[in-house]
Amino acid sequence: MKIFLDTANVDQIREVNSWGILSGVTTNPTLLAKEGREFKSTVKEIAAIVDGPISAEAVSMKKDEIVKEARELSKIADNVVIKIPITPDGLGATKILSSEGIKVNMTLIFSGNQALLAALAGASFVSPFIGRLDDISHDGVQVLSEIINVYQNYDFETEVIAASIRHPLHVLQAAQIGIDIATVPYDVVKKMVKHSLTDIGIEKFLEDWEKVKNYKK
Ligand code: G3P
Repeated sequence: MKIFLDTANVDQIREVNSWGILSGVTTNPTLLAKEGREFKSTVKEIAAIVDGPISAEAVSMKKDEIVKEARELSKIADNVVIKIPITPDGLGATKILSSEGIKVNMTLIFSGNQALLAALAGASFVSPFIGRLDDISHDGVQVLSEIINVYQNYDFETEVIAASIRHPLHVLQAAQIGIDIATVPYDVVKKMVKHSLTDIGIEKFLEDWEKVKNYKK
């Protein structure tokens, strides 16, 4: 499974990218608003840091306007992918854009049927929001399983991005069912690295090394 970072914070992206485990970044208007920076220059900077798909969201709602906006956004950098919410207009725009070679990440996916439609329209990625499903007492991971099942039945090439990840267990559950990508918030990816036994183990090794390094031949 590939790990994307779900943030528009350039410092966080640089830090996690330096670990050598990052394959892409997803942004959305909410994440960009947190940074208080101009949209296109922020996306351009992110696209130069990470060698992989960088999702930037189109905010137009009508098919022709979505297409126009997406074409503009795709000029920011070669690795920019256009996030489009699933609506009838969004599907129509995705069909046009995918035929032009512009990659679409169809977002705000909450069901297997929505994911099926996104794949039929030619989306390169779909983003089911599993945390938001859990928030309303639905099972987000179950919806991921449904999508994987549907896509395998028909050999769709659309990659599934588990999004709206709230904790490390979400990432593990996504990996266990073979999800292509998890887009993970910075605080969650930091928690994934940590284990108290690792910390205790390092402390003990360093303590013992202090004894060993002074031994003479
Ligand atoms: O890419 C955005 C998606 O992950 C949303 O997350 O936490 O706002 O539900 P959240």
